[in-house]
Amino acid sequence: MNIKEKALQILENTAKKIPAVNRLLEKEYDKLLAEIEKSAKPYKDSVSYPIIPEKGIDRAEILKTMTDFQQKEENKWKDGFVSGAVYHGDHEHIEFLNKVVALNSQSNPLHSDVWPSAGKYEAEIVSMTANMMNGSAVTGKDEVCGAVSSGGTESIMLAMKAYRDWARDKKGIKKPEMIVPITAHAAFDKSSQYFGIKMRHVAVDENYQAKVKEVKRAVNKNTIVIVGSAPTFPHGIIDPLEEMSKIARKRKIGFHVDACLGGFVLPWAEKLGYDVPVFDFRLPGVTSMSADTHKYGYAVKGTSVVLYRNLELRHYQFYTTSDWPGGLYFSPTFAGSRPGSLSAACWATMLSVGEKGYLEATKKIMKTADYIKKAIADIPELFILGNPLWVISFGSNELDIYKVMDAMSKRHWSINGLHKPSALHIAITLRHAQKGVAERFIKDLKKSVAEVKVQPKTKGGMAPIYGLAASIPFRGAVGDLLKRYLDILYKV
Ligand SMILES: Cc1ncc(COP(=O)(O)O)c(C=O)c1O
Repeated sequence: MNIKEKALQILENTAKKIPAVNRLLEKEYDKLLAEIEKSAKPYKDSVSYPIIPEKGIDRAEILKTMTDFQQKEENKWKDGFVSGAVYHGDHEHIEFLNKVVALNSQSNPLHSDVWPSAGKYEAEIVSMTANMMNGSAVTGKDEVCGAVSSGGTESIMLAMKAYRDWARDKKGIKKPEMIVPITAHAAFDKSSQYFGIKMRHVAVDENYQAKVKEVKRAVNKNTIVIVGSAPTFPHGIIDPLEEMSKIARKRKIGFHVDACLGGFVLPWAEKLGYDVPVFDFRLPGVTSMSADTHKYGYAVKGTSVVLYRNLELRHYQFYTTSDWPGGLYFSPTFAGSRPGSLSAACWATMLSVGEKGYLEATKKIMKTADYIKKAIADIPELFILGNPLWVISFGSNELDIYKVMDAMSKRHWSINGLHKPSALHIAITLRHAQKGVAERFIKDLKKSVAEVKVQPKTKGGMAPIYGLAASIPFRGAVGDLLKRYLDILYKV
């Protein structure tokens, strides 16, 4: 926390003690949240079960209700109106995975004696991913290892926990610190909060890449790990991984490459001849990586891979207990029981897509992204942040970009709002590579820009929320607002 942030926190704590300030904030929150609640709860009035029904409801009726929901929601992503979210989405692919999930619906990797297939699937998912990341190719040994987790956040958190425990055990570090560019995923901040690792944020330069000099300066005797992204979630930019990993290697600390977003794109983009810097275990300083099978790996939601350069590091991830009256207990990741069906679906995806399928998919995504990047660059009111490959962020010096987001929402688009600086982004997927989708995106974007230009003062939508978040200097207050949003999601 810098001096300004500290001063604001003191001010905020003082302001919170003044009832009038609290009342004012509450009023503002209530107004905003009432608006949000309407759009977050579309089924509230038609179907609601706040308590277990006395008598079981007919299965056919339940299926009908759920099919109605599914169809309404499918309409949103199927035609490519959503940034990221569904990365493949072809009908035959989904049908195949649904069969695999159904076949394995009872499987639980915790009971490896009952479901040895689940263990086999996970071992091979890790091996295939490690190989794709040039694991054994560079070490000459099969030491690059890992685990299947529930998603990118868990993969990241597992690695950060492993570094904390490794550094405590091997180096006696009791006050661990991590060096993380501000553009790295929020899961690193979550790890810092959950595991008591002090966060040392470093800034990014005009290309939205981590500032190497700041990374160098931030290292001290308590540093356990440096983090780089391939690419970052907000701007789709690859950090200067080679230079950053050299610093980590020299100082004998961990270097984690977060390839949750790019792990299943970059290896193929490189093969296709795109300008991709070395981002994986070929860099000797890289000690761990995260790569999401449930994004561009095209598996169903709920799997990701965390990789380590050696078995020693992975041991600090594992949990074991030999004293529990419940018996000898051990589990590789945070959960105990886990859905084996998801690992089965992930394995089946990787086998059925194959190298050729990943290459073809990446080719389509890159081609679509190239078209969209060029077309956005041609819109005079907009500019692209940095030099991204396929996750494209754009802002405006003339218009309220959040109003452009709202104008796009009216045209059914669901694109991500970013801030610090204010911008939007679209992560290109196979959905956008469908015929006519990229053209429709650009047409709608141009219309939205033109609309905001003539009517900059329209009300409603997300613009006031981002506006409020930007205008409240107190980050705690914004955090409170987000917690209240989560409360709404759990309201029946
Ligand atoms: C770069 C990056 N890292 C980590 C994550 C977290 O992944 P998940 O949402 O699967 O937890 C994301 C998600 O978009 C990401 O883009």
